[in-house]
Amino acid sequence: MRLLIISPLTGQVSAAAKIAMSRGAKVSQVDDVAAALGTLRAGHGADVVMVDVGLDIAGLVASLKAERIHVPVVACGIGTDTAAAVRAIKAGAKEYIPLPPEADLIAAVLAAVTEESNAVVFRDPAMVAALRMADQIATSDASILIGGESGTGKEVVARYIHRKSRRAAQPMISVNCAAIPDNLLESELFGHEKGAFTGAVARRVGKFEEANGGTLLLDEISEMDLRLQAKLLRAIQERVIDRVGGTTPIKVDIRILATTNRDLEAEVRAGRFREDLYFRLNVVTLTLPPLRERPQDLEPLAEHFIKKYAEANGVPARPLSPEALNKLRSHGWRGNVRELENAMHRAVLLAQGDSIDPDAVQLSGPSTGARPTATAAAPGTAGGAGLVGRTVADVERDLILETLSHCLGNRTHAANILGISIRTLRNKLKLYSEQGVPVAPHGAETDRPHV
Ligand SMILES: Nc1ncnc2c1ncn2[C@@H]1O[C@H](COP(=O)(O)OP(=O)(O)OP(=O)(O)O)[C@@H](O)[C@H]1O
Ligand SMILES: [Mg+2]
Repeated sequence: MRLLIISPLTGQVSAAAKIAMSRGAKVSQVDDVAAALGTLRAGHGADVVMVDVGLDIAGLVASLKAERIHVPVVACGIGTDTAAAVRAIKAGAKEYIPLPPEADLIAAVLAAVTEESNAVVFRDPAMVAALRMADQIATSDASILIGGESGTGKEVVARYIHRKSRRAAQPMISVNCAAIPDNLLESELFGHEKGAFTGAVARRVGKFEEANGGTLLLDEISEMDLRLQAKLLRAIQERVIDRVGGTTPIKVDIRILATTNRDLEAEVRAGRFREDLYFRLNVVTLTLPPLRERPQDLEPLAEHFIKKYAEANGVPARPLSPEALNKLRSHGWRGNVRELENAMHRAVLLAQGDSIDPDAVQLSGPSTGARPTATAAAPGTAGGAGLVGRTVADVERDLILETLSHCLGNRTHAANILGISIRTLRNKLKLYSEQGVPVAPHGAETDRPHV
């Protein structure tokens, strides 16, 4: 983990730095916010930033947001000055660490803020085969395309491949191509020079340069627009990139992993994805089976998540009762491992007694998983009294899922009917599936999915 400390180097701060280093963090330090932004823009990334309460935390958070530098900010300061801590949190810090530093507290905060468990749990022969293939190709520099439904563990497997690769000591940087607006994705990937466009307040190094020597994960690659696909192809083929507004090409040495939950070959046939880029990325394809097709993974995964959330919540890790396990086995798991993870998180919090009983296992949707569901009441029953007592977020979710299901999963149609952009729709659906709510898979799209 890379920790960037923003504070003049006092005794207290260097003590905190030493603790973080002894726990395996790579620590760098700068004196002020301007220097920190410079470091981050230059591509020396950080997984978490720790900033002195005396500095301009609100300004730092605003700049990070404006420049789309995603890194959690933690504040620190001498003593337990409550007012200072409150100011820091209001300014956008996620946590406050009082100084002098306490070793366990620092370790716990850093772990919580950057929470990322690396375990890949599997037992089913289908996953054994997929992981064996991942082992085989990890040490080569070949590009790998990782396919599979949403929540099947594509990112988990990408991280696994990076850890097993020759680049493991270098960073793995990921970019979610679906989450960043088309017009900003280019500068996100390739960086930009100061003044290249409105809002380009300073030179910024892109993810390609940040990942130099390491691995670049292009998440949801199918969502990249065709124009940018051409630039990506050049970067991969020639191993050079151009910053937006830049004049000299820059050499990069990276390994590319890409994920998609769409059938990329079909996207190529439909003219939405460049064939030459597809062949470049797809030196090897690893397709992760949906959870419902690897039944033997269910139990070890459920146990893994129970342990994880019991520890995180300081409650005992109760075993699953045989009835609860049966309930899991008969569920459709449209949301795959992520849905199971959320279900187990809830179960850990709801369980009472010696074991986790079926009552604590709350699953959404039908047990067969045959039909995309909305947790909504049937259309038409949503009038008047049916709405009172429900939150806007709740009703909105049901409306969106019902409409999507009505459109047989076609996002373009559903967005038109709902009067929202495809991107907004996509972001909402992503949120729902992260919450474990089943979302209808993509249906036939009649026009370009990018808005
Ligand atoms: N084999 C596994 N072992 C442990 N945890 C897993 C495994 N597979 C998935 N998970 C957990 O399930 C969640 C979803 O996994 P991940 O983000 O890798 O899925 P994904 O295929 O990238 O999903 P999406 O298509 O929505 O981006 C994560 O919280 C991850 O930690
Ligand atoms: Mg993913």
